[in-house]
Amino acid sequence: MQKNLKRAFTTFIVALTATIAATAMAAPSDPASDKKQFQEFFKKKFPETTFEKFSDGLYALAGFDEYREQWEGFKDLPPYEIGLEHGKKMWDTKFRNGKTFSSCFKNGGKNIAQGYPYWDKVGKAVRTVEMDLIDCARRNGAEIPFLTADLDRDQGARTQLAELSAYFYSLSKGKTIKPDIDFSDPDALKAYDDGKKFWWSHRGQWNFACASCHVQLAGKNLGGNQPLSAGLGHTTAWPAQRLEWGRLETLHYRYSTCLTQMRARPPKHGSATLNNLELYEKFMSGGLPLTAPGMRN
Ligand code: HEC
Repeated sequence: MQKNLKRAFTTFIVALTATIAATAMAAPSDPASDKKQFQEFFKKKFPETTFEKFSDGLYALAGFDEYREQWEGFKDLPPYEIGLEHGKKMWDTKFRNGKTFSSCFKNGGKNIAQGYPYWDKVGKAVRTVEMDLIDCARRNGAEIPFLTADLDRDQGARTQLAELSAYFYSLSKGKTIKPDIDFSDPDALKAYDDGKKFWWSHRGQWNFACASCHVQLAGKNLGGNQPLSAGLGHTTAWPAQRLEWGRLETLHYRYSTCLTQMRARPPKHGSATLNNLELYEKFMSGGLPLTAPGMRN
């Protein structure tokens, strides 16, 4: 009986995954119904995880209790504190004109990160937190290494950007994610579709898609030492610090490491392709609380 139930359930999940994948690739998209389907899928797959908890990444999933215990042990003294302090210092440091980063943002930068990425109607592009921070620094004549560095190669400069954006996100911690995108603009819908297609497409030497690990294998421990998170809740904790890395890192760097693992070539840090991917992932996680910066294995 148990076995039959299990088999029936597995068949159901496989069928549901196939349906999501099939609808995912069919055009034109309806982002709101995509999101509903995406979130329902994970709620069914992990019935013991309450919705908000998906923001905790893999630690929210049944079977990863040991990982969760270890993770909770870091809550009082999170390893990213030092990096966050660097970010705050940068945020508070005056440009030569006497202004600071807060002058570039609505509400001084507080409680607005949950609306990112947003759609820039004039520029016809997705705008990320990093883009706005970089623009702000440039407009105010700042000279910071991340403004000119190749962010794929220059780890120091990239970490600096991660630290600054981590501080920016911390000013909105706990707010509900709701990317500000007007999908009545066909170009915005195109950007969304581009990100969605990237997420569901198989690529690289192993022919894996993001969904292979973060839908089909979500909640499983790949090779015994790679617990896999659900796609729902991705990005809520980023920038994050992984124990293994020992520094705050950007979401796009996390993307590049997943792509490298898939034996696929990662697009450039800050490229439209990764911005659109970020848009898709954040839109799918709409309604969850922002937890960035986070700590991860
Ligand atoms: C071979 C399996 C695999 C594939 C395929 C894969 N990833 Fe990952 N990904 C991981 C592992 C392992 C981690 C670290 C544990 C976790 O959070 O799942 C991770 C973590 C992440 C995280 C951080 C989640 C968090 O809460 O910290 C994001 C975001 C992410 N992946 C996005 C992607 C995207 C986008 C793709 C497709 C371009 C992708 N991944 C493809 C294995 C994979």
